[in-house]
Amino acid sequence: MSDDFFPVPESWAKGALMDRAAREADYARSINDADAYWLERAQRLDWITPPTKANESSFDEADFGVKWFADGVLNVSANCIDRHLATRADQVAILWEPDSPDAQPRRYTYAQVHEAVCRFANVLKAAGAKKGDRVTLYLPMIPEAAFALLACARIGAVHSVVFGGFSPEALAGRIQDCDSTLVVTADEGRRAGKSVPLKANVDAALKDCPSVKKVVVVQATGGAVTMQDGRDLWLHEEAARASADCAPEPMNAEDPLFILYTSGSTGKPKGVLHTTGGYLLWASLTHELCFDYRPGDIYWCAADIGWVTGHSYIVYGPLANGATTLMYEGVPNYPTPARIWQVVDRHQVQTIFTAPTALRALMKEGDGFVHSTSRKSLRLLGTVGEPINPEAWRWYHGVVGEGRCPIIDTWWQTETGAAMIAPTPGATDLKPGSATFPMPGVVPQIVDGEGVVLEGAAEGNLVIARSWPGQMRTVWGDHDRFFQTYFTTFPGKYTTGDGARRDADGYYWITGRVDDVINVSGHRMGTAEVESALVLHESVAEAAVVGFPHDIKGQGIYAYVTLNSGEEATDDLRKTLVKWVRTEIGPIATPDAIQFAPGLPKTRSGKIMRRILRKIAEGEVSAQALGDTSTLADPSVVDNLVANRQG
Ligand code: WTA
Repeated sequence: MSDDFFPVPESWAKGALMDRAAREADYARSINDADAYWLERAQRLDWITPPTKANESSFDEADFGVKWFADGVLNVSANCIDRHLATRADQVAILWEPDSPDAQPRRYTYAQVHEAVCRFANVLKAAGAKKGDRVTLYLPMIPEAAFALLACARIGAVHSVVFGGFSPEALAGRIQDCDSTLVVTADEGRRAGKSVPLKANVDAALKDCPSVKKVVVVQATGGAVTMQDGRDLWLHEEAARASADCAPEPMNAEDPLFILYTSGSTGKPKGVLHTTGGYLLWASLTHELCFDYRPGDIYWCAADIGWVTGHSYIVYGPLANGATTLMYEGVPNYPTPARIWQVVDRHQVQTIFTAPTALRALMKEGDGFVHSTSRKSLRLLGTVGEPINPEAWRWYHGVVGEGRCPIIDTWWQTETGAAMIAPTPGATDLKPGSATFPMPGVVPQIVDGEGVVLEGAAEGNLVIARSWPGQMRTVWGDHDRFFQTYFTTFPGKYTTGDGARRDADGYYWITGRVDDVINVSGHRMGTAEVESALVLHESVAEAAVVGFPHDIKGQGIYAYVTLNSGEEATDDLRKTLVKWVRTEIGPIATPDAIQFAPGLPKTRSGKIMRRILRKIAEGEVSAQALGDTSTLADPSVVDNLVANRQG
């Protein structure tokens, strides 16, 4: 890894939110005088009843629980909208850029967002949603997606956003798990000129979801849909009838705000639960520290609202801070690989925040597309979702930002709510590929396999030693799974599932997952989920899935499949299985390679040795790379696997 050093640029050293000394002092206080620090920081939010208590969490089994600001009362949508009306009612809050460059952008001021959200909230109420009810959102990247989040928050309903690229099966599973009573969707989504049949997918999913009573449908493309009488409502018809006022529901800081399903090491996605006060504080504070937002800036997080990045950095963080947040309907390379930079010029964007996979894909197309645009407005470049390789970092910094924009590499997870390890632009000297230092209150540690804390320069498992306000509170419906998943591997600490290295200067470098989660194009995928989908197919007896390095996607999906006896291993069947996984989970889970394997490498106790499967998928097939295979029940299966490697 590169150890080059990029000091804070001159232009940033002046007038930044924090310089290095200020950040260091702030961090020290967040650790040494934590409760006072957090009660003070909490004042950045508008409370109905301000909290008098900060952190009451414990990671120990005896009194386990995560709890922050527990006697405070507030409403998230009032914090993201109403409190700005006095000073910036006419400022654009949401700036929407459509999929097609020929369509018109839309702009919503804070006053207009207020009205749209109030009407939407009243529609949800009329459709039966109450405080605490779960509402599943299955939406494209349109302004109504942001309104829907805020409308739920306004009435205290718990939203569960399901990414629009997920299949009806995946959607149904996520609706059933949290017993949603209401689904909000659109007729269709639009991405790269193609339409996505969202309402039809909802219709298919709801065949197995008896809890859902109503479906609110946004008219996005005008495409034909079937509306079920008594169940389905058009948002625009209901909103026109609804009142433009809706008082925000007073919520306890620990009342649930949202559930977001994410992949873990087992086949069943976990419903990560975030609550009201701590989450909003964390999203808003880290948005300020990472992006140093200035009034008038146009800030663009190019994520999808279906992922946590969209929640925290398109909607909640920026709106809590009174920013203008740009929402983009489309994809980075449509209709041309210059599109992102054209949008930057069109709207004079100061900050862009995207994923390494998009950068690698655009980098491959050559610098000409970047050079065809000005990008003079850019001040800051963010990245998130996977480790950024130094080559992509340098391209982003040198070619896109012409050397003047700091790269803000933010490491975090759905579980952490918002950024945990990340630079502050005016304070942090950068190293390409390092997420640098912890945010306030975050105590990262590197531990070895036995949990021994390693000091100084070290590499091992990344854990977090104490709670922070934006930490997830539980796995929906399964509190024990929350404890077992995150707090038992290294007792008393939050286990991230990531590996990390800390260098001699104290910089953190995330090395990737150490569990069976893989990161495909910045999307998190449990290998067990893909395996479960494969074994559902009638021809498949057994499947083992691993990640392998992929130039653009970061990691690709490599599946070893053992067929039922009598089944023939044909190319057609391979294609069928690829399609099968796409329909079961969604296109993001498309296997890159399927290798038919008469046997998998198992220990005598029946455990699959994934280490060997990973090595073969990576193309590392020397005896030295494969290591000791003598403990396998049948060492000869390895020769067969090596001989039939795909790719
Ligand atoms: C990975 C996305 C390296 C990591 C916000 C983590 C990263 C997982 C970075 C969480 C980064 C995220 N550098 N790795 N800057 N950001 N990751 O839940 O493996 O979709 O555990 O949250 O993405 O993915 P999730």
